[in-house]
Amino acid sequence: MEIRLAHVKDTEFIREIYNDEVMSGTATFDIAPRTIQEQRDWLTERSGAHVVLVAESDGEIVGFGSLSRYQRRPAYSTTVENSVYVRPKDQGKGVGLALLGALIEKASEHGFHTIIARISAESKGSIATHKKAGFKEVGREKETGRKFGRWLDVVVMQRFVEIA
Ligand SMILES: CC(C)(COP(=O)(O)OP(=O)(O)OC[C@H]1O[C@@H](n2cnc3c(N)ncnc32)[C@H](O)[C@@H]1OP(=O)(O)O)[C@@H](O)C(=O)NCCC(=O)NCCS
Repeated sequence: MEIRLAHVKDTEFIREIYNDEVMSGTATFDIAPRTIQEQRDWLTERSGAHVVLVAESDGEIVGFGSLSRYQRRPAYSTTVENSVYVRPKDQGKGVGLALLGALIEKASEHGFHTIIARISAESKGSIATHKKAGFKEVGREKETGRKFGRWLDVVVMQRFVEIA
């Protein structure tokens, strides 16, 4: 498996993995699937200090992760928010942890100080994976999300980054 920066040609693979979670899971609070154009815009917005990484195996994208702007106000600019998604049939094989490790390295190379992960409390696998990558729970938002007729808590996890 290779982890590399995403290209625009990866748009459709990323969109498929993401929209699967939009429609069937609560890891994302999006409720409508992304169009190709929205997915392409999302990708190109993250082509500088912010990044999208993909995990590729036998020519197929099996997962992706991103570092995004955390908040718009400029004093937050040394903080990033991450995401990571692995396609269902490849979950539980170490792909998520490998992507998270690569994102932490990128954050370090790009001079970011800290990473925030905002995770649906139902996503036990994501909480476990982030813990394993050195993230610690720093807060919990109660019932700030609602999807599939359920209230959803958000677990806020954080990791500091050693500057490369
Ligand atoms: C969460 C996710 C990214 C984790 O990636 P993954 O490739 O499945 O996880 P890994 O195989 O790298 O596992 C990393 C660690 O977390 C643990 N873990 C993973 N899923 C778990 C689960 N459901 N319950 C408990 N622990 C779990 C693993 O046991 C592993 O620890 P170990 O090495 O001690 O066994 C992936 O399952 C996924 O995409 N899930 C759906 C979408 C999602 O929740 N995205 C996160 C949005 S913030």
